[in-house]
Amino acid sequence: MVGPGTLGGFEDGEEAIVTSHAATRRLDPKSSPTEHDPRWSAVVARDRAADGAFFYSVATTGVYCVPSCSAKLPLPKNVRFHVTSEVARRAGFRACQRCRPDASGRKTRRASRAEALSAVVSIEERVDAIDWARVGEDLDARGWAMVPGLLSPGECDAIAGLYEDPGRFRSRVVMARHGFGRGEYQYFSYPLPEVIRSLRAAIYPHLAPVADRWNETLRIDARYPVALDGFLARCHAAGQVLPTPLLLRYGAGDFNALHQDLYGEHVFPFQAAFLLSEPGRDFTGGEFVLTERRPRMQSRAEVVPLRQGDAVIFAVSHRPVKGTRGHYRVHLRHGVSRVRSGRRHTAGVIFHDAL
Ligand SMILES: [Fe+2]
Ligand SMILES: [Zn+2]
Repeated sequence: MVGPGTLGGFEDGEEAIVTSHAATRRLDPKSSPTEHDPRWSAVVARDRAADGAFFYSVATTGVYCVPSCSAKLPLPKNVRFHVTSEVARRAGFRACQRCRPDASGRKTRRASRAEALSAVVSIEERVDAIDWARVGEDLDARGWAMVPGLLSPGECDAIAGLYEDPGRFRSRVVMARHGFGRGEYQYFSYPLPEVIRSLRAAIYPHLAPVADRWNETLRIDARYPVALDGFLARCHAAGQVLPTPLLLRYGAGDFNALHQDLYGEHVFPFQAAFLLSEPGRDFTGGEFVLTERRPRMQSRAEVVPLRQGDAVIFAVSHRPVKGTRGHYRVHLRHGVSRVRSGRRHTAGVIFHDAL
């Protein structure tokens, strides 16, 4: 059984990475988010011990490198960090000719280094490094936004492994019994697993301003507290005390019918879903689908191309769209297309608690 204590465990000798990062970390509030990221210290130090733990890309040159690359140090504002080189390539970057980040000799310890990274760079640091302005623009434009490479493969496996531990959950839902689809999911009980708790608390403050803006646009009175604790206190005072983060498991033939997630009077308009399995390797089919029904128009569908460790943030019920006479609501539903083979795990983070 995999427990939360095993998430991001170290191997012998890798503690040294943490110490050197902590020692050189600067916290000047005027510096860019990159400079607050412990990975930046490893790039500045051209730390060979960090090679394979992460990759960085440079917006101005379009290449990605290993931390020890001997190329000229880029400006921190042009730097992005990636959990794997695969994630860097998917973001449109190409391999550096100088450090050859994908040379075969580098691959051997990559997996264990990626796990070392997940302990070095906290969930909070990874969430804070997301380009939230871009997420807000995507939510405004389409009602959903992709966040690639937020969790390492080891973290994904550890969370998925919790499914078999009944002590972690308050209830189990067999979808076919309720007409929700086919497959099953379980709601976590409090206290949540540490990774899930951190993700929920770290993501919420970045979405609350977007939620406020949407409500203002749609002339809905509710405004959201700046921190998750404040919002949960409001839910709990209204009797919505049951935790809503959940773990879903699909096998061949399973699917999740299109739906909205509204659990009481107090609703946070966004949720986040994390794909814990790798498409093509662990399962086929099983795509995350969103549909949008606009007034007097046919529904429109979008497929979100998630890979293992990616998240999608999306509107739970509606989004504002600008019309000729002000804004109106379009209704969104989400679901999962039929899994054709294999097994697919997802974690869902809903921010409001339930009745
Ligand atoms: Fe849902
Ligand atoms: Zn390089």
